[in-house]
Amino acid sequence: MSVNIAVVGATGMVGRKMLQVLSERNLPVDNYYLFASARSAGKTVQFMGRDYTVEELTETCMDGKDITYAIFSAGAGTSLKFAPIFAEKGIIVVDNSSAWRMDETVPLVVPEVNPDALLSHHNIIANPNCSTIQAMVALKPLHDAYTLRRVVYSTYQAVSGAGMGGFADLENGIKGEAPKKFNHPIFGNCLPQIDSFLDDGYTKEELKMINETKKILHDNEIKVTATTVRVPVYYGHSESINLEFEKQFDLDELKKILADAPGIVMADDPASLSYPMACDAADHDEVYVGRVRRDDTVESGINMWVVADNIRKGAATNAVQIAEWIMAHAEECGIK
Ligand code: A2P
Repeated sequence: MSVNIAVVGATGMVGRKMLQVLSERNLPVDNYYLFASARSAGKTVQFMGRDYTVEELTETCMDGKDITYAIFSAGAGTSLKFAPIFAEKGIIVVDNSSAWRMDETVPLVVPEVNPDALLSHHNIIANPNCSTIQAMVALKPLHDAYTLRRVVYSTYQAVSGAGMGGFADLENGIKGEAPKKFNHPIFGNCLPQIDSFLDDGYTKEELKMINETKKILHDNEIKVTATTVRVPVYYGHSESINLEFEKQFDLDELKKILADAPGIVMADDPASLSYPMACDAADHDEVYVGRVRRDDTVESGINMWVVADNIRKGAATNAVQIAEWIMAHAEECGIK
């Protein structure tokens, strides 16, 4: 059986990175199809030594192409409308938007954390929010060992998380130009708003982190709160995470658990000024963890600093890993 992959939103910040990650990981794929809006239709994109023509995403664009997987990163509105059309035609959709994440029938997956959720699906799989993904890689092994009771996230998120427009606002802001994507200047500034505000004063980004953490860790009892902030960094989200556990822990043992967990690189040596930084994480697929220290204000808790490339592990790489996992477990996932 041939494997054909469509990338929807192929001209965007995440879509381009998806193409790069797909080429790096050399999946057993026969053909690729690139889709974007009418604005990009007809453009040529060089990919794996070939020229691909970008096609307009329409309700019939997938017909006659024998597409097996479609990886979407074209915004929630586009996913809401088009993911079901692809899914209905038997195509497995891995969706990077927030559109389907909290749908009970849709697995929300970080492959290092909860790959088993992929065993039951209805052709739509959701890629979690970028900030949630890197946090999950670090929290899951600690939850397994010590049972999380409460999580406090404070994020420092790169402008690339807001797509091409966010990136341009920082580049142009340095030159003194007014922002177009953000409501306020991002150069020389921190914006304590990511996504729109809800009635209770939290932002949608904060709510995503709260809800997605519980769904992925499969535990509604964990108390989670978040403050998400956009900072003038191009690539790499940083997160200060405060955790409270049910069980007592030994700090050296806890650090070893983190160091041994899949997908984590420890950078935690204050003596040599070693700690995770966005500039080091950029263009890598791993999640970097450091500044791990006991929180003496609670019975059992820690503070730590978690950094990852938001476009790679936080989006493109995680989505491609999901497709890879399904390919490797096709029969178990109900794929003929
Ligand atoms: P296009 O480049 O044609 O506008 P980013 O988040 O970096 O801005 O990227 C968004 C991606 O989603 C781009 O590839 C963009 O295509 C694509 N996109 C946005 N709106 C639509 C739409 N209505 N239909 C298909 N693709 C879309």
